[in-house]
Amino acid sequence: MPSPSSSAPIGVFDSGIGGLSVLQALRAELPHERFIYLADSGNAPYGEKGDGFVHQRSLAIARHLRQEHAIKALVVACNTATAAAIPLLRGELPDLPMVGVEPALKPAAIASRTHHVGVLATRGTTQSARFAHLLALHGEHTRFSVQACDGLAQAIEKSTGAEAAEAASKTRALCARYTSALGVFGTESGMMDTLVLGCTHYVFAQDVLRSLVGPEVRIIETGAAVARQTRRILEPAGLLHEEAAPEVHARNILLCTTGALPALQAAAQRWLALPPGQCAAVSLPQAP
Ligand code: DGL
Repeated sequence: MPSPSSSAPIGVFDSGIGGLSVLQALRAELPHERFIYLADSGNAPYGEKGDGFVHQRSLAIARHLRQEHAIKALVVACNTATAAAIPLLRGELPDLPMVGVEPALKPAAIASRTHHVGVLATRGTTQSARFAHLLALHGEHTRFSVQACDGLAQAIEKSTGAEAAEAASKTRALCARYTSALGVFGTESGMMDTLVLGCTHYVFAQDVLRSLVGPEVRIIETGAAVARQTRRILEPAGLLHEEAAPEVHARNILLCTTGALPALQAAAQRWLALPPGQCAAVSLPQAP
């Protein structure tokens, strides 16, 4: 593959629409870049499907973005895919700069005054060796209470589709169940004063989660940190695209889905203010 130029797009993918929360931050940090986003909504959720499935999907998507869109870098905007597949992706595409996303345990440990942090993530993430390593790394002076949230990413995934009203009430019910399973939130000793959103979908349920944990609890997500890290890896490689005219900004983004196009269009409109014409349906070959 010839070396990409700085005007090539950055590939971003997630199991579905959750990674749009990361794309929001990428747009803010890197306003002159072109982005190609792939939502694997036809195969979401990843979090309850096991590593083999996530490996296969992640590899198929990374290869597709490389071959069809000549991406210059890849942002894995999915905690579950990062936990399961980023070493594999780096091994298969060694010359493609890559950034993954992980639950923000380190910033949470630094921020927490009660030294008790709640973490919501998918089952795939919470059961991964990578997450166990993160806990061991940052758990010395901080207690992390961790909850695997089966069904929550899928409910959020459906929140812009044909069953939006039902999905919204399911999202509320699951958020209530999982935050209360974690324990008591607040700023008094022993309480959780910090909540880590360890899945990119959960950012879109932030208002509901805020109403459940109260106004004093710090909610931490990783979009901005991932966007800064993307800048950090592009800059020294001479791959930063600095000078596009701002008026082409909106047109520099293409969103694709393996699922229902209207659901992606609604999500793009609601969260990124992008028109339906910037979304497309795509079908991908399975990874061998
Ligand atoms: N958005 C994803 C994450 O950050 C995955 C959700 C899922 O598909 O289960 O983990």
